[in-house]
Amino acid sequence: MRELRNIVILTGAGISAESGLATFRGPEGLWEGHRVEDVATPEAFARDPVLVHRFYDARRENLSQVAPNAAHAALARLDAEWPGGLLIVTQNVDDLHERAGAKRLLHMHGELRSGWCRACDARVAWEGAMGGHAMCPECGVSGAVRPDIVWFGEMPYEMERIDRALMEADLFVSIGTSGNVYPAAGFVQTAKYVGARTLEMNLEPSLGSYLFDESRIGKAGELVPAWVEEMLG
Ligand code: APR
Repeated sequence: MRELRNIVILTGAGISAESGLATFRGPEGLWEGHRVEDVATPEAFARDPVLVHRFYDARRENLSQVAPNAAHAALARLDAEWPGGLLIVTQNVDDLHERAGAKRLLHMHGELRSGWCRACDARVAWEGAMGGHAMCPECGVSGAVRPDIVWFGEMPYEMERIDRALMEADLFVSIGTSGNVYPAAGFVQTAKYVGARTLEMNLEPSLGSYLFDESRIGKAGELVPAWVEEMLG
């Protein structure tokens, strides 16, 4: 058996579901009443910036109504106590992992509490509404700040760092993601290629479920604390 040292964990909307945040691909294929392509593409933003800002402003506002759940807390504990390498790669734009205390974390699809100024290229911490006329605190230009969210057709963040971590992984764990969206959906294949063990925890088998060595079906709030206990116990 190869020694288990380096862990890469991928999380998706399912880990925040028990905190009360909607997942993307619900039964009707709608996301908070919108088609994903109407609010999560650069084309949608160019076509109807008011709608897109309203949508993300409401989601940013909603963050203050929700709290991390047992799965976020368990991963934060694993991060604090695991002596080897560990990286939590989240597709989520909420801040529940960091509010639970996770440190070795990156947001590959951006963050609700961040703005991106297209005039000066700065990323700036953002609280409250952004709207179409927001002024960039870095350069002072108004109306050029957009949500710092990776939309469909855009390049996810920190891919080099993610690839490096995957190449060194002994264990890859996927939690609460449907496996619809690449490149994240392909991480399991990279991990397998380098000989890592692979585990998924999801409410239902994901699209790539057959690629995992082990698939645990159930709620993240129950499965993740039990798994962390196994890892640290
Ligand atoms: N525990 C575990 N899994 C759950 C739970 C739960 N309590 N509730 C739902 N799930 C599972 C669902 O069964 C589903 O397979 O979480 C998964 C969520 O899948 P999606 O809604 O497709 O979310 P995600 O995979 O994170 O989407 C990826 O798509 O629109 C883009 O950029 C957006 O980051 C997002 C990406």
